[in-house]
Amino acid sequence: MSTEQSSASNEETINCVVGAISGRDNAQITCSIESPSSEIFGSFTSDHLASSASFLTIFLALVTTLYTIWRYRRDSESQQMQIQTEKNKLHKLDQLQKIEKFYGPFNALREESFILYQHFALEEKARLKEDGKSFRTLTYLTEIDESGFVGIEKLAPQDQSILKNILQISDKSLELIESHGGYIDNSALHTLLGKLAAHFRIIKLAADGELEGLSETLKDIVFPREIDGAIDNEIAKIENSINQNNTQKKYCPNETVKFYDENSHQYALKTKKADMSAVYGIFTSYIPKGAKILDAGCGVGRDTKYFIESGYKVRSFDASKTMVEICNEYPFAYCERLTFSEIEFGPIFDAVWASASLLHLNSNEIETALSKLWQCLKTNGYLYFSLKETYSEIDSRKYFVHEEDKLTTLLLNVLEMRLVKYWETPSSINKEDRFKNYIYKKV
Ligand SMILES: C[S@@+](CC[C@H](N)C(=O)[O-])C[C@H]1O[C@@H](n2cnc3c(N)ncnc32)[C@H](O)[C@@H]1O
Repeated sequence: MSTEQSSASNEETINCVVGAISGRDNAQITCSIESPSSEIFGSFTSDHLASSASFLTIFLALVTTLYTIWRYRRDSESQQMQIQTEKNKLHKLDQLQKIEKFYGPFNALREESFILYQHFALEEKARLKEDGKSFRTLTYLTEIDESGFVGIEKLAPQDQSILKNILQISDKSLELIESHGGYIDNSALHTLLGKLAAHFRIIKLAADGELEGLSETLKDIVFPREIDGAIDNEIAKIENSINQNNTQKKYCPNETVKFYDENSHQYALKTKKADMSAVYGIFTSYIPKGAKILDAGCGVGRDTKYFIESGYKVRSFDASKTMVEICNEYPFAYCERLTFSEIEFGPIFDAVWASASLLHLNSNEIETALSKLWQCLKTNGYLYFSLKETYSEIDSRKYFVHEEDKLTTLLLNVLEMRLVKYWETPSSINKEDRFKNYIYKKV
């Protein structure tokens, strides 16, 4: 038996007694640590060693397992990411194909046909307008004239050429609809294209003089005026789905917007049928046929629907989630949840329609909003907006009034717009309320 003593530090001493008894299987090691203040005592037997070893084994096994799990998760996450990237690529390709194979060419044909039609049968159109009537190609082609002509023969030579070109474009459009219908996801758009196809075919028969005298029976086969707005929005949806980044913006509605969120269905019932025809009439008298309109703060989308059904192209936005959902129930709308300060469309619109929406913005917000709307307009584009005459708080909504001078300074001097029309109207919901209506032109 031997005893060794070594100095571990100034304060403590370690003594090890190693006992080795010959002939014995187990050697015994006893260690004690002595410190000036206390004695920390430890004694290791082979049993302790064995349990330490098993502890170490379990510990190592645990670490290995955790590491394996961590690696597995890391690998499967990166695999998932790879799969997602592949999926995104395929989705992008699929979306690009829709544009390249169907929507792009179809849109180009519609544009060509639209321009030609603006120059078609001008004399006839003007003559009927004088009598307060509108020109319908199908009616015109199926009615026999005083010289006994029907169909394309009734037209002056230059109008005959234009119509032949329009019919050729219609044939190409029909081919596209028939061969690439699979690219259309929107079932309402399928139906609309069916109506368009029927219209094209019937016009062709009428031009060939085969539908003489049938104008009354065919009067249901009208050109579906929503088609250009519907196609334009389908393209915008596809382009946005290609370019979308997945960063979700946080939704923090203010008290006014919260009110619309919580009461959108009642609001829809109250306002959907409001008669806006007088204001529509004034606004559309300034903008070209088929113009592209931004419905800013569109609410339930009453005006979005009206303008699309009247042959305009319309994008819409509103700050309220539920208002956006209701607006998008109309299958040809494309409404996004955005506030005035968030919009970044670029100068793509012929007109902005901001009916009773800017009135919820305070004086700082309205200045930003007007500048943002100005950015959305093409040169010579028009901005319509309506504000209330008096400040009010209804439920939790605030209706602001603004210093006239401040707004006109911004619109006329800073944004260099021109006021083309100002008029006042009673509210369509509450006759006591009066609205101030403005149309400005971007020059
Ligand atoms: C009185 S409603 C008018 C809706 C529609 N333009 C109409 O004439 O029926 C006001 C709309 O403005 C929206 N709105 C309020 N603050 C907004 C903001 N900061 N950005 C966008 N929309 C906003 C509301 O959500 C609501 O739908």
